[in-house]
Amino acid sequence: MSKYIVTGGAGFIGSMLVRKLLERDAAEVAIVDNFSSGRRENLEELGDRVAVHVADIRRFDEIAPLLRGADVVFHLAAIPSVPRSIADPVPSHESNIDGTFQVLRACAEGGVHRVFYAASSSAYGDTEELPKVETMTPRPKSPYALQKLVGEYYATVFASCFGLETVSVRYFNVYGPRQNPSSPYSGIVSLFMKALLERRSPTIHGDGEQSRDFTYVEDVAALSIQAAFAPGVSGRVYNGGNGNRYTLNQIWEILQKIEGVSIPALYGPRRAGDVLHSQADTAAAVRDLGHAPCFSLEEGLRRTLEWYRRDHLRTLAP
Ligand code: UD1
Repeated sequence: MSKYIVTGGAGFIGSMLVRKLLERDAAEVAIVDNFSSGRRENLEELGDRVAVHVADIRRFDEIAPLLRGADVVFHLAAIPSVPRSIADPVPSHESNIDGTFQVLRACAEGGVHRVFYAASSSAYGDTEELPKVETMTPRPKSPYALQKLVGEYYATVFASCFGLETVSVRYFNVYGPRQNPSSPYSGIVSLFMKALLERRSPTIHGDGEQSRDFTYVEDVAALSIQAAFAPGVSGRVYNGGNGNRYTLNQIWEILQKIEGVSIPALYGPRRAGDVLHSQADTAAAVRDLGHAPCFSLEEGLRRTLEWYRRDHLRTLAP
């Protein structure tokens, strides 16, 4: 039976990936997570269909026995957030760079067939052209962006120097059910959802005209699996967005319309390290990985809002 392991599998994106893997075939699926931001609630109805190992990716001795012999290791564990990496750079450096190195090392030494690495669109920074193409020279603007880029480079170098099959997909602003809105570092869509349901104004950093290629979590999970099994892509990096971009003002507008309310946003200063515009060129992912996103922005926002409406009291509990 195939064996798949998801680091960060108790997180918002990782737990969706785990669900998709369980749907796929009779595989053994295991999670490696230190529960720093991952949550047991994200795995609620999965029961014993998935093995959960509490282990820290920075500790080679903890993770090496768990990863050994896997068919695919999906490496999603990370400390996310651009502003968090500026406010407190040491933990994110250690998890995102040192931890990624230890995962790759454990996979190379443990005979893992392929590693999928969750890279980030933040690597592009403010490159002038839109959409962003994989061939552009990266210009990371924050520790987080740099850390995720180093992870990507490491994945490629492990492929060329150590014969480990790797593939990286740069996630573009993922949103959807289970994204936790309870921290100031939470993703903007989750913060908008919380504000909307509490009938409060969200705070927008800057004029709200910055734009993102918001990507629904199910599409990202599906693409990650396609990348993990695509032939002839080892050592390569792909964009994992939708190919669209929307401003924060537009997203808040759409949400108010869906909910039938009018709540003006508050505006504050721009965030350090913030990228102005982000949009994926998806041609390479479509060609090589069969990328085919299924969820329009409006559909994704509706589904996400329904999830928060159903679950938000529990989710928002401290
Ligand atoms: C970045 C990456 C993304 C990565 C994520 C991990 C880019 C383009 N994207 O997302 O791929 O997955 O880090 O954390 O670099 N904002 C507000 N008010 C708030 C919070 C945020 O206006 O209360 C604004 C931010 O200034 C930013 C936008 O919303 O302009 C999105 O922020 P956020 O959701 O944190 O993600 P990015 O930093 O864009």
